[in-house]
Amino acid sequence: MRTDARKRNNKASRTASIREGLGQRSIVLIGLMGAGKTAIGRRLAHEIGIPFTDADSEIEIAAGQSISEIFAEHGEAYFRSGERKVIERLLTSGGRVLATGGGAYMNEETRKTVADHGVSVWLKADLDVLVQRVSRRDNRPLLKDGDPKAIMKKLMDERYPIYAQADIVVQSRNAPHDTIVNEIMNALYGSPLLSSPNNKRAE
Ligand code: S3P
Repeated sequence: MRTDARKRNNKASRTASIREGLGQRSIVLIGLMGAGKTAIGRRLAHEIGIPFTDADSEIEIAAGQSISEIFAEHGEAYFRSGERKVIERLLTSGGRVLATGGGAYMNEETRKTVADHGVSVWLKADLDVLVQRVSRRDNRPLLKDGDPKAIMKKLMDERYPIYAQADIVVQSRNAPHDTIVNEIMNALYGSPLLSSPNNKRAE
């Protein structure tokens, strides 16, 4: 077989094996604002051939308001409670790639739901990369009151030890999305979480 054809075959069998190994479970992307969860998640879902859902968009649809409006009108606690419910609903209704908001995985119940119904992938990124990316848009209420870099650094210190509980860690950086997607696919392919025959978490 020619090299190109062999490569295509290998890729197709990697994709099929990931899809089968997942069964009804989801791939759940976690990480700080600006880590690329939505953009990379969408591409990853397309590559595997399963649906993509962005939890923040679903929260906005459920509330009929933007995230900024929810924070401004009802406060963060209200947002977090809606976030937890929406993620639980999504993770118990079929396999998909799910991009979560940066604070979602900090909730203990959500971490349990993710562990029960999904494989978690932390898109880990350096502070400068994140700050550069979030500065392009003004849609993140947590970054509105103060210096975005200092706020991101504080969130990083608080959250990275918890994000570290994720099943898989991939470095998000200024590289083509396809490169990061390929790294996630390789990590999933080699993961014992996907090789158990009954699609449950490996003991
Ligand atoms: C938040 C991250 C946001 C959104 C909300 C709160 C956070 O999502 O859920 O503004 O606590 O880090 P992204 O991580 O998709 O920006």
